[in-house]
Amino acid sequence: MKLPARVTICEVGTRDGFQIEPEFIPTGAKIAVTDLLTAAGVPRIEVTSFVSPKAIPQLRDAAEVMARITRRPGTRYAALVPNDKGASNAVAAGVDAIHTVVSASESHNLANVNMTVKEFLAKLRGVMEIGARAGVPVQSGISTSFGCPFEGDVPMARLEWVVGELTAIGARAIGLADTTGMANPRQVSVALEYLMPRFPGIEWTLHTHDTRAMAIPNILAAIEMGVSHFDASIGGLGGCPFAPGASGNVCTEDLVHCLHAMGVETGIDLDALIAVSRRVQDIVGRALPGQVVKAGKSDRRYPVPDGVAARLP
Ligand code: COA
Ligand code: ZN
Repeated sequence: MKLPARVTICEVGTRDGFQIEPEFIPTGAKIAVTDLLTAAGVPRIEVTSFVSPKAIPQLRDAAEVMARITRRPGTRYAALVPNDKGASNAVAAGVDAIHTVVSASESHNLANVNMTVKEFLAKLRGVMEIGARAGVPVQSGISTSFGCPFEGDVPMARLEWVVGELTAIGARAIGLADTTGMANPRQVSVALEYLMPRFPGIEWTLHTHDTRAMAIPNILAAIEMGVSHFDASIGGLGGCPFAPGASGNVCTEDLVHCLHAMGVETGIDLDALIAVSRRVQDIVGRALPGQVVKAGKSDRRYPVPDGVAARLP
């Protein structure tokens, strides 16, 4: 395999994960999780979103969370925003980066933000301007890049068109999101092979959901194509409230475990991350999909059974 020395992980559990939790997570718990992720060395965190509190009531405390987290120099704290209002609020809250998402498919975009893709791209121009004026980088995500739960296949020409529209309004960092885990590794390879040379100089991120157990394979396919930025969610939390069948993101500690086992650095302390995952399970009150939390790391060893020990040659 062709592997890079290092990749950059953006933790999205406190946003993509917490946003679908039905019970309000106390603001203090959100802050504690963000601080623990910081302490574990996670280099980028999508902390929250500055969206309509009617759309996502869980994240109505975005400003307070941003104000009270403990920031480590070198960690990039971002928030998702849907419009000018969100972008201004995020900048006022001191985010280091603004994240946006437009869908590749019309029905998901309407379900998510109540606008057609064209209408929404026009809004995103305003967000790009707010980011540029404030000197805050904007990362432009594209939901349903690899398939839509309502419309099915997303043609490559359509994805290319959305990427083109985003770069035309100034996007330099683009996230391809597999919102409901429809992508497969070959499809990820083919899409990146097509898009990367056509849009040179873009920082590509892959945002995966493990709905069909293809998230890590998809990430490995993207790594082989030269992508080095990945979103992941502690414990495998997450889902999109506006996409039926969506489940959690790729689990951060499982991904970090896989990368470290292959000698790919992330800058993250895996043991600390596993401890954060346990804490998040306590907060949401249920077991999460992550595997390493249950199995332990691959260097875990068990005592040799008595009968076996006696017969070892
Ligand atoms: N922050 C806080 N409040 C906001 C806001 C923002 N960024 N954007 C809009 N609002 C408020 C408006 O002020 C208005 O409030 P009011 O009813 O008290 O006057 C209300 O939300 C509705 O605003 P409107 O402009 O009519 O938007 P809408 O109802 O068509 O909703 C969005 C559009 C984009 C604001 C809303 O759908 C949204 O926030 N979606 C986010 C979805 C999301 O995060 N999905 C997860 C990503 S996968
Ligand atoms: Zn997502």
